[in-house]
Amino acid sequence: MMYRKCVLLLLVVVVAPLLLRGGVLATPSKSFNKANGLCPSAVEIAPCKCIEQADGELDMDCSEVTTTAQLQTAFQATFPFTEFNSFTLAPIVPSVNLLVLPHGVFGDISFEYVYISGTDLEIVEEEAFTASRNTLVSLSITQNRIQSFPFETLPIYTVLHILDLTENMLPYLPDIVSSPLRYLTLTGNIGLSFDTDTFPGANNIIEINLNHMQISSLQSNLFSQLNYIEHIDLSRNYLSGQLQSGFMAVPIDSLKVLDLNDNQITDIADGAISGVARSVLINLQNNLITSLPEDQWVHLIDQITRINSIDLRGNPLTCGCDVLWLVRSEDKMAKIHENTTCADGTMYLHDVPLEVLVNNC
Ligand SMILES: *[C@@H]1O[C@H](CO)[C@@H](O)[C@H](O)[C@H]1NC(C)=O
Repeated sequence: MMYRKCVLLLLVVVVAPLLLRGGVLATPSKSFNKANGLCPSAVEIAPCKCIEQADGELDMDCSEVTTTAQLQTAFQATFPFTEFNSFTLAPIVPSVNLLVLPHGVFGDISFEYVYISGTDLEIVEEEAFTASRNTLVSLSITQNRIQSFPFETLPIYTVLHILDLTENMLPYLPDIVSSPLRYLTLTGNIGLSFDTDTFPGANNIIEINLNHMQISSLQSNLFSQLNYIEHIDLSRNYLSGQLQSGFMAVPIDSLKVLDLNDNQITDIADGAISGVARSVLINLQNNLITSLPEDQWVHLIDQITRINSIDLRGNPLTCGCDVLWLVRSEDKMAKIHENTTCADGTMYLHDVPLEVLVNNC
């Protein structure tokens, strides 16, 4: 009798808190422990700040850290919970003493969302985020000076949906291998180079942003194994002259948005753009396209059902005999953006009078 009571007491007093602490009863444990706080001691992690949200989610903000050593020390504190929602490092002024995110810098603390922006960071070491291999959903490291990023470790991240490396100094993109990856952004990494095999290992990608990178040419089958691709942004690059047949070949008509605006494209060969959805938006604004010959455009236009789908605003279109076939067909013409103007910038392509063309062509 006595023995049983003791066992029961032991269970309640010793085992239950252990269970709670260990996360076996993860959700109740957070609210149960709330009074004690889920964050580590503020002093031990300073100048990082741990923020506990109403729902018990934990966020770590280390924007005031100025050296790599400070960051490492903060994560050597005693953490009651190791699973964090987010990590933020977005200083007002970047520090020249924080250039590297070293191996193991976060100890065994894991994150779902990582947001690092506006630092002088140059190097992300191979095992900087490995404690987050099964939790990291979004890794955003934008507007820094990253030259070295461990792309080769991407396969270990089992739920990584978003990788945003906007405006860094990455020189070369090795093959990306990640089946959970959906959104990849490399905007503003000027001069970054990559090969044909770069993307097939990330074949669930939905959106890929390769804008503002000074890209002057693309291998024709770069995207040819991306079965789910919906949005490709190649705007603000150095694409020039004629887009050759096979330039943009997406396998199964999934492409809904193709941004090619702000390049120096003069011309599109028949078959240059294929694999578009019927509702695609093709942004060709601010290029150097002068004419719209039927043999180059008709197949593309016939694949599309959406009106205002092809945006040719800001091109020096001559609106001559080359557009007679379009002006004749209300149906085809409707797919060209209604505010597309001719070379003089005031006459709308949609207002070019059919009779004049018929009489002169
Ligand atoms: C064309 O321009 C007019 C007037 O600015 C605007 O109301 C309309 O929405 C534009 N059309 C499209 C498809 O953007």
